[in-house]
Amino acid sequence: MAYETLIVEVADHIGLIRLNRPEALNALNMQLLEELADVLVSFSTNDKVRCVIITGSEKAFAAGADIKEMSEKSFTDMFEADYFTGPTETLLRFRKPIIAAVSGYALGGGCELAMMCDFIIASDTAKFGQPEINLGVMGGMGGTQRLTRFVGKSKAMEMNLTGRFMDAAEAERSGLVSRVVPAKDLLDDAKATAAKIAEKSLIAAMAVKEAVNRSYETTLREGVLFERRVFHSLFSSEDQAEGMAAFTEKRAPQFRDR
Ligand code: HXC
Repeated sequence: MAYETLIVEVADHIGLIRLNRPEALNALNMQLLEELADVLVSFSTNDKVRCVIITGSEKAFAAGADIKEMSEKSFTDMFEADYFTGPTETLLRFRKPIIAAVSGYALGGGCELAMMCDFIIASDTAKFGQPEINLGVMGGMGGTQRLTRFVGKSKAMEMNLTGRFMDAAEAERSGLVSRVVPAKDLLDDAKATAAKIAEKSLIAAMAVKEAVNRSYETTLREGVLFERRVFHSLFSSEDQAEGMAAFTEKRAPQFRDR
């Protein structure tokens, strides 16, 4: 299917989604978010996709939700349509690993979209921020919630209250991103990282994703018990037998996602 706001490629078991509204610094409008949801639905049943990368351009991952599109909306318009936020539920339900490869601006909904992915690799030009307060509103896709869990209350509060941007070094220091790489290497690095994930058992990768995400939703005790059950359940998979046999036989495993 052809998309107007995204460039989508599948190669080497990686699904690459490039946000593509250069005229608006990849601002997230409803069309883009619906197209993104549509791609993810197709990726979830596509055996050729074992890991996903979401990226933008060198200048902007995404400069926020589309201000022009939402400026005339009323409460009921936003509420009834679950405007912007509705399609992101598909991303949150997506079970294969997703990497955000962020260069340039990741602001407002752009920062929130990156945080909805499983981890963020940033270029040294990346700038993160929740500047919605400058528009008389606030983050609506996780800016006050996920950012607080990533960087702690003090920094999240400051960023949401002042709208200031965080550069890549600060984002790495405070745990928002997993790594910072030179801008010219961002996509290659993200692809190499995705390739590493894609060669694992997809069953194990999906289990890891589910368990790490569970740590955000529950107590440590419940999370550890959940992890234990999932760990035990992986002993029903062929990939567990194969992975451990391959280690013993000093060969590379041949995972079959079974
Ligand atoms: C619509 C946007 C946009 C946005 C940029 N553009 N951000 N359009 N929505 N969020 C458009 C500009 O209007 C302009 O179009 C073109 O992109 C280039 O932007 P410039 O401002 O000329 O670029 P520059 O001077 O380099 O400044 C870059 C910038 C600035 C600092 C990123 O564009 C900016 O502050 N953007 C808004 C950031 C923001 O407030 N984001 C939060 C949005 S609210 P024209 O046609 O004029 O050339 C949000 C809510 C999330 O995200 C919650 C949802 C549920």
